[in-house]
Amino acid sequence: MIDDDKRLAAEAAVAEIEDGMLVGLGSGSTAAFAIAAIGKRVSEGLEIDAVVTSLESGRLAARHGIELLDFEDVATVDLVIDGTDEIDPAFRAIKGAGGAMMREKIVANAAKRMVVVADGRKRVARLGGVPVPVEVLPFARSAVLGELRRLGAEPVLRRAGADPYLTDQDNIVFDCAFAALDMPDELAVALSTIPGVLAHGLFLREVDAAYIATGGRVDRLERH
Ligand code: 5RP
Repeated sequence: MIDDDKRLAAEAAVAEIEDGMLVGLGSGSTAAFAIAAIGKRVSEGLEIDAVVTSLESGRLAARHGIELLDFEDVATVDLVIDGTDEIDPAFRAIKGAGGAMMREKIVANAAKRMVVVADGRKRVARLGGVPVPVEVLPFARSAVLGELRRLGAEPVLRRAGADPYLTDQDNIVFDCAFAALDMPDELAVALSTIPGVLAHGLFLREVDAAYIATGGRVDRLERH
């Protein structure tokens, strides 16, 4: 059921893609449905360029026959289709449960349009039901931990088995729960200014539209 909704949302967003576009491929299980749908359209003749937001999405794109540009050589993306962990009515999102928030945000910032795809569980009245992932240089682990606590977070080091989870850039992640996420703009600025913090999962201005599927029905929401 949930997977059907993820696929429906992803396929609806993929319908936005036109020949000649440079498309950003997001990360996570819902974005994976989008990558599969894009691969199908490419096999049917769609001509696009594409970049990815994670190593895993790169592997997936290759499996679906989507040729990729190196994002290092790309300044502007036409459309990025990505997943989200939460999205509120103001199109503010929390991303990064998959750990790809740094590249996702860089690609989103380069994109003329960012569309998120999700099942209905991700639509929330208020942000804060999931922790905010914060990517940290390992060298700065203890120093950043103290700063995050001073901001009111309860940071938990993300693990992969017994070891710290490492991002595509070999950095660590603190998943930061907050008692209340009342002032996300102020929090985003505060997080960004901590030396050693390299990225965080608050996407407050990037999202232009959302395709959200619930019980087989897709809602397209557009930021005005
Ligand atoms: C990865 C992300 C994902 O897009 C987000 O976690 C949603 O993933 P899923 O579609 O699997 O629920 O931000 O960093």
